[in-house]
Amino acid sequence: MPFDPTLLAQARHVVVFTGAGVSAESGIATFRDKLTGLWEHFDPAQLASAEGFRADPPLVWGWYQMRRAGIAQATPNPAHLAIAALTARVPKLTLVTQNVDDLHERAGSPDVLHLHGRLDAFRCLDCARPADGPVALPEDALQGRRIEPPRCTRCAGPLRPGVVWFGEMLPEQTLERAFDAAQQCDVLLSVGTSGVVQPAASIPRLALAAGATVVHVNPQPASEGHAREFALAGKAGEVLPQLMRQAFT
Ligand code: OAD
Repeated sequence: MPFDPTLLAQARHVVVFTGAGVSAESGIATFRDKLTGLWEHFDPAQLASAEGFRADPPLVWGWYQMRRAGIAQATPNPAHLAIAALTARVPKLTLVTQNVDDLHERAGSPDVLHLHGRLDAFRCLDCARPADGPVALPEDALQGRRIEPPRCTRCAGPLRPGVVWFGEMLPEQTLERAFDAAQQCDVLLSVGTSGVVQPAASIPRLALAAGATVVHVNPQPASEGHAREFALAGKAGEVLPQLMRQAFT
């Protein structure tokens, strides 16, 4: 049986849980898609761990500034806009993202729960003090060159991006809010995620177990293992606007 869009229109609390796929149509590379995925070309151990950063700070800093420059050039796509529009159509919406970009915010979504941190929040690797002010983005950062990280004004340690690296804890309160929302919602839309990185990946399962309907939006076939679990196959920028039209017109 296909997903009934009126369930979305009637929901009191919707959780939208997004991954890299929601930003793919804005030109931001995902992590695991073949050929275009970031981890196809780069080594996560080197670029997404504190050890990798300590081993070669200019390489890792330069890589994150390149991603930051790509995101700065990108604009929200119809998927981000549909999610922002959904916020205004249901009594309560909790937006939980694994993405470190700010495209949901720029599309108009308020209060985004960033489970894996943000690329534009910086802190000291050594003493964790947040950067004093905005950190300038070098004009040629998009070229992906080695860049020496700025130094902490308190202890002179290198600044690091405020993203969650492998082996690090997720922000505790943010994760708690996301888990609570998953267990209280009526409908959870899981958009553009491979669902392999824990603990974030358990969010749709938590919602299902608590009685919600779960809808996966992804061009890749997704599991429909449960009677309340549905897959809408396609690109988020096409599927979500269509779902909005079906649910609200
Ligand atoms: P992945 O790269 O693992 O998965 C992206 C998903 O998006 C795949 O299932 C694709 O099929 C799907 N996809 C691609 N294009 C799409 C489109 N136009 N519309 C909808 N879906 C599309 O990315 P995540 O699941 O977000 O962690 O990865 C989870 C975490 O792994 C990331 O947050 C990152 C990474 O290591 C950290 O940075 C801590």
